[in-house]
Amino acid sequence: MERADAVATSYAEQTGGSPDGVWAAPGRVNLIGEHTDYNDGFVLPFAIDREALVAVGRRADGQLRCWSRQEGTAPELAVADLAPGVVSGWSAYPLGVVWALREAGVAVPGLDVMVDSDVPVGGGLSSSAALEGAVALAVADLTDSTLSRTELALAGQRAENEVVGAPVGVMDQMAALLAQAGHAVFLDCRSLRAQAVPLDVAADDLALLLVDTRVTHAHATGEYGARRRSCEQAARVLGVPALRDVTPDQLDAAGSELDPVTRRRARHVVTENARVLATVELLRAGKIAQIGPMLSASHVSMRDDFEISCPELDTAVTATMAAGAVGARMTGGGFGGCALALVPTAAREELTAAVRAAFAAAGFRAPEVFGVTPTSGARRLR
Ligand code: GLA
Repeated sequence: MERADAVATSYAEQTGGSPDGVWAAPGRVNLIGEHTDYNDGFVLPFAIDREALVAVGRRADGQLRCWSRQEGTAPELAVADLAPGVVSGWSAYPLGVVWALREAGVAVPGLDVMVDSDVPVGGGLSSSAALEGAVALAVADLTDSTLSRTELALAGQRAENEVVGAPVGVMDQMAALLAQAGHAVFLDCRSLRAQAVPLDVAADDLALLLVDTRVTHAHATGEYGARRRSCEQAARVLGVPALRDVTPDQLDAAGSELDPVTRRRARHVVTENARVLATVELLRAGKIAQIGPMLSASHVSMRDDFEISCPELDTAVTATMAAGAVGARMTGGGFGGCALALVPTAAREELTAAVRAAFAAAGFRAPEVFGVTPTSGARRLR
């Protein structure tokens, strides 16, 4: 059965009726530009073919009911009662978006929402933004809202910041809503200007391989927020609105005002911004194979300066590089999730075997290794 049929069938089982529509939004992989989004910097994510589907129908009584084919039934409540602190668990994502859209002036009716997602949760592929993107587009369509896709992405981010309680940037939601097939989204997180950059690796006999370490993370807790605070602290000390406003040379010259740890955190962000810009230049010039060193330098920066890698991610990167990858890096928020490798298509099998062997030798859980190609963002399926 098509996934759209399956989610509509589950919707019918719960509600006894047909949904008004079915919408989908994808998970994402970030090619490069990590922890730069909340520093007003640059990111370059692309959407992948794992997605969240939602079947949604309007209700006349102002009530909100949510089910997930993976997570079960959420407590029912009235649209009027939605507020930060009122919802928790998985439904904080869809209901947080409903709340943020209501705050943005959308007259949201009561809704029945059935969710079906194959984006792994906590795996660094942004299952949350996929769900937020699908719900945001569904609500916008059902209310004939004039909000732009960027505004819908901001509603998703606000849901996550204020309802879920995770201090994330806007990259994932923008990728879920704005991605185009065959392209990465080059996003300036200050102006929110998004440009599609061609990412046709197959043309160069290359492939994008993901290594899912199956180590999960939770951004709502701990380290993500700590990194964000370090960056904000660095910007304050350097007297700039955000680390976006500092170049690597300026940071080198800034000398002693920063303590060593804050300085390393800042160095990751300012060098990472430079790497994103260089990567975009290379992609636009059709020099895909040459982005490899950028990816690898990004990983070293996250491992040593930002300190958000973990042994499994480092092993994935080392093993793929030793087996002939052109470049490799952890992708996403860190502390688990996936590594991305740009690999010669001909060497794919060999590389996959090498990673599996390296994980087994280290005593790690077997990773999942699979190819990804850039796909398109949120859309209505029916
Ligand atoms: C998570 C967040 C994003 C971004 C990345 C790191 O995916 O949701 O906003 O900060 O981490 O680049």
